[in-house]
Amino acid sequence: MRIAYVVGDEDPLDPDPDLDIPYAKQAAQDLNIDLVFTNWNDQSIDWSNFDAGLIRSTWDYVPKRDKFLEFAKKVEQQTKLFNSFDVMSWNTDKKYLQQMAEGGLQIIPTKFVSNLNEAKVEIDSAFSQSKSIAIKPSIGAGARLAGKAGNAAEAINLAEKIFAANRTAMIQPYIESVDTEGEKAIIVIDGQISHVAIKVPALTKGGHGDAARKEEISTEVVNFVNKVSQCVKDWDDLLFARVDVVRYKGELVLMELELTEPWLFMQYRPESAKDLFKALQNRIV
Ligand SMILES: Nc1ncnc2c1ncn2[C@@H]1O[C@H](COP(=O)(O)OP(=O)(O)O)[C@@H](O)[C@H]1O
Ligand SMILES: [Mg+2]
Repeated sequence: MRIAYVVGDEDPLDPDPDLDIPYAKQAAQDLNIDLVFTNWNDQSIDWSNFDAGLIRSTWDYVPKRDKFLEFAKKVEQQTKLFNSFDVMSWNTDKKYLQQMAEGGLQIIPTKFVSNLNEAKVEIDSAFSQSKSIAIKPSIGAGARLAGKAGNAAEAINLAEKIFAANRTAMIQPYIESVDTEGEKAIIVIDGQISHVAIKVPALTKGGHGDAARKEEISTEVVNFVNKVSQCVKDWDDLLFARVDVVRYKGELVLMELELTEPWLFMQYRPESAKDLFKALQNRIV
């Protein structure tokens, strides 16, 4: 079996290495899988040479999402792709959160704004309910262009940067539990919860969404993932998913659902790499 492990270009000035790679390499070797590292920006690759393409650290797609989706469509015409093009086109814009909320899932209260006038109205409204707010792009990864604001001028400044990058901005209350209990990244492989990582608070401590430690899988987490699974079309077809949750007003709510290129924090459960490739093998034969 020959699998393309798909990465992207790394910005040397702002590195964001894929730390799942050593675990993936080891698992592929143990399972006799020929794992080939490929870059989605490389136009010369013949994807029909692979049994599947596995999208992993393609975090550079953000400013060129259309190109990325075009690439995904092309790959899917030539071989199997995980997750699918349809899933990626839905999941690469956080507007999907609105749809999940309409489906009954608890999310962070969110307003999407596409210009400065709209932003000013929603920023004022957010500050009337919360002493600090979070602003981030609806198409984004690694917390880039995201920030925490303690007053309207700061918030407008952040929104302006997002609009200058031609993106829609999201305005949310700043969730304090991100800095105390921590955001939980729930790693799901082939429908099963594999492990849970606590993330570093990106807007106060920095980084691109790194993990701080491992956490046990609680019943609360299991129940939340069950609810998510009911809100996602074709959940059973997903090879991998990461459900990022935070506590807000006592309950878990969704920060984001990562179905495109989640770092799977394999360091907290190296067997997860083997689970991933075994599930992939089952989908290929
Ligand atoms: N409303 C919020 N309150 C507190 N922290 C937030 C909030 N929104 C985002 N963050 C922080 O910014 C990070 C990145 O935001 P996220 O929505 O996960 O986008 P992405 O990971 O795709 O860049 C989160 O992991 C979290 O640390
Ligand atoms: Mg995130």
